[in-house]
Amino acid sequence: MNGETQKKQVVLTCAQPTGKLHLGNYLGAVKNWVSLMEGRECYFGVVDMHAITIPYVPAELRKNVYDCAAQYIACGLDPDKCNIFLQSSVVGHAELAWILGCICPIGNLERMTQYKDKARKHKDALNSGLLYYPVLMAADILIYDADLVPVGEDQKQHIELTRDLAQKFNFKYSDTFKLPEPYIPQSGARVMSLQTPASKMSKSDPNQSGTLYITDSADTLRKKIMSAVTDSEGGVKYAPDSKPGVSNLMGIFSAITGKSYAEIENEFEGKGYGDFKKSVADAVISHLEPVRLRYEEISSDKKYIEEVLKRGGEAAQRRANRLMSKVFRKVGFMRFE
Ligand code: TYM
Repeated sequence: MNGETQKKQVVLTCAQPTGKLHLGNYLGAVKNWVSLMEGRECYFGVVDMHAITIPYVPAELRKNVYDCAAQYIACGLDPDKCNIFLQSSVVGHAELAWILGCICPIGNLERMTQYKDKARKHKDALNSGLLYYPVLMAADILIYDADLVPVGEDQKQHIELTRDLAQKFNFKYSDTFKLPEPYIPQSGARVMSLQTPASKMSKSDPNQSGTLYITDSADTLRKKIMSAVTDSEGGVKYAPDSKPGVSNLMGIFSAITGKSYAEIENEFEGKGYGDFKKSVADAVISHLEPVRLRYEEISSDKKYIEEVLKRGGEAAQRRANRLMSKVFRKVGFMRFE
């Protein structure tokens, strides 16, 4: 991609390289990134700087970066149509985060739901990075002057903070940032664990049979889906409060097939959970099979992935530089040629 696309709508979004992408990452996020790629200028980041806010092993992080980029491509992101970049390779994210942090009240960060969750989980390793995380995320978005940020529902609060910070900066230093819009899908925006459907599907779930990975084998996917928690009442009905397990499977089925909840209820009228789960498993497996095959093809080609990240990083840097020169000027920093 190059500079000729300047007037197109700009899409920016990212995921953390903390292991394999799961079905929530895919349905809530990456699948929609693919559909937004045509006709827009897109930046898809692998955010390694976010990944060091929790305990980690550096060598594993490096491996996960390659793996995350390979999965992006396997899911359908075309490096000739979008820019896939590594956050730490673009200068500006951390600088802008610092500047935004200086106008961000601490209370706004302490109120973030994800911070509260993670602070509870990592009580013994609670660092300031975890609290500051949403400011870095705001910088990731604002530095590209993004119009649209496709994410799952759990990131909505962070995007609201991003908009607040953009407004605060514009008010204090004059108009600089666009206010980005979140893009959250109708179904798949919050995929829940198959075993504990009250909590969202997650890489760190201690019960891994509740998490479907996009590179899981057909057998594993089927096993996990067939043993998903449902309820004793029977009947395929969408009722998230009283039937969270079945409703979650319906959400997954709907996001993959495009069928509405009413259509799904009609299709499975009078049928048991076993039949329904089998259809969900068939749909998930046939949808993810090409993703897994493509992943197996490219994941060992480190050179190709590096090339993609290098090219994407250069494009990202060009775009980031434009905004950062403006920001430096406005806040009173100097650059000596
Ligand atoms: P991360 O890496 O946790 O997740 C990546 C994307 O997957 C979505 N997602 C889900 N969607 C539906 N159901 C789920 N169970 C589920 N779990 C995750 C997330 O909403 C996200 O869209 N802070 C971000 C990464 C980030 C970012 C950014 C995103 C850093 N900078 C700038 C957008 C813009 C995160 O931790 O995502």
